[in-house]
Amino acid sequence: MIILHGPFKKVISLGGLSMRGPLSDSDVTEISDAGILTENGKIIEIGNYAHLQSANPEAKNDHAGENMVVMPGFIDAHTHLCWAKDRVLDYALRVAGKSYLEIAEAGGGIWSSVLKTREASDDELIRRTVERAQRHLNDGITTIEVKSGYGLSVAAELKLLHAINEANKLTEAGLIPTCLAAHMKPRDFQGTGRAYLEVLLQELLPQIKSDGLANRIDIFIEKTAFNPADSLYYLQEAGKMGFDITVHADQFSVGGSEVGIEVNARSVDHLEASGEGEISLISASETTAVALPGASLGLGMAFTPARNILDKGGKLAIASDWNPGSAPMGDLVMQASVLGTFEKLTIAETLAGITFRAADALGLADRGKLEPGEWADMQAYDTDDYRAVFYQQGRLKPSVVWKSGRPVTV
Ligand code: NIG
Ligand code: FE
Repeated sequence: MIILHGPFKKVISLGGLSMRGPLSDSDVTEISDAGILTENGKIIEIGNYAHLQSANPEAKNDHAGENMVVMPGFIDAHTHLCWAKDRVLDYALRVAGKSYLEIAEAGGGIWSSVLKTREASDDELIRRTVERAQRHLNDGITTIEVKSGYGLSVAAELKLLHAINEANKLTEAGLIPTCLAAHMKPRDFQGTGRAYLEVLLQELLPQIKSDGLANRIDIFIEKTAFNPADSLYYLQEAGKMGFDITVHADQFSVGGSEVGIEVNARSVDHLEASGEGEISLISASETTAVALPGASLGLGMAFTPARNILDKGGKLAIASDWNPGSAPMGDLVMQASVLGTFEKLTIAETLAGITFRAADALGLADRGKLEPGEWADMQAYDTDDYRAVFYQQGRLKPSVVWKSGRPVTV
């Protein structure tokens, strides 16, 4: 069915913008008095509303968001939102001065979420995942990457990935599952990290492939998780099986990003500890650097050196890292805005980081911009200037959100 959406005050399509390096706000073109013509959820044409209307008399009209400013739906390229039970105690210990690593060693951290998540029923995990996805959708986030990683056994990781896939059927947001069975070596595994990764390669990843549960895998490369040599082996083997690769890299210590670049990962995420050498290597590569300001705010740590990455010509996306430990806030727009103020990112750079550059980090060429051929994933704001979304640091919410051309929420 052909639908004419609008008329809109302005459409911010983000067409023609570079996938890497600095952007200035003047690079962003605004189409005034615009309409968006869609067919079966995809954009056919964007242009002057009156012109589109007279050229397409058969189109059904959708006046939602009339006279508002429309931009692409946001994309959160890194979350862990499939978990059960919160970790308020971790937070309390942390603000009382304990470090992330000390809390993990004292029995909190990732492992405590694993124990709670393993106990949760399928229904509870699906329900929690849908609830969190719906909250994101209300904030204009139409595509959400969701990692497993709180199961850490073959059966429990499959349970989480099934839950994420089931949740995807129950929310209008598009969920992109990623297997993070290599989040840490489970405490109940008798053997080395390498031996655990071998189990994943032999028993878990083939099953994920044959059941079509995820096309992406992730690993946490860190002193408390997996070392660079074992990680390189795991990622190379998984790459041979056809998985796209993303890496938790350089969060507390370096080593991870180099491995990510070596295996041509889609993205290396975190990078708070990256030095000049790492940043140069990442920025010269095709791999996207994903800044996770929610983790910096949750842990009270430095931000990812986003300005440096862009100035060196790198690809930069910004994601929420929404998880029960380091980033429980889960407010992508607030976090991206705050990263922008600290790192001196232009609004165009921040917006790019949560739209088309985030889509690129996920290997998705069909969203993140409003252009013919793309999904009509979009949102309308009651403002004159799209930059107000970042100026208000997440407090200005969309009045209408569309997924594949259909108004879905708010
Ligand atoms: O991205 N760094 C590793 N994993 C998560 C933290 C998960 C947790 O604490 O439960 C992160 O910050
Ligand atoms: Fe993470």
